[in-house]
Amino acid sequence: MSDDSGWVKAANRGDLAEGDVLGVILAGREIALYDLDGTLYATDDICTHAYAKLSDGWLDKGEIECPLHAGRFDVKTGKATAPPCIDDLKSYPIRLVGDDIQVKLE
Ligand code: FES
Repeated sequence: MSDDSGWVKAANRGDLAEGDVLGVILAGREIALYDLDGTLYATDDICTHAYAKLSDGWLDKGEIECPLHAGRFDVKTGKATAPPCIDDLKSYPIRLVGDDIQVKLE
């Protein structure tokens, strides 16, 4: 099995501006990509509290705030940091290969 196993292209680097969040669908999963001061992170895009897309929320000081009930998660770890969110988000390895942002799903 090669080192590239499980990595899939998620976006072009130019699609994600610094300090921004981008929602993508990869193999049927909704994933949020984040750029924090030029460093990339990826988590599930659907809030663990109810159904809302975190990529429609606000990125603030390394946390994503859910647009529905203002719960928060640390985008580096997926950890829930503010109520009503209790369950953590799944986070994913992310890398840049040339101009491609890639996420490892498995
Ligand atoms: Fe995200 Fe309620 S759906 S905080």
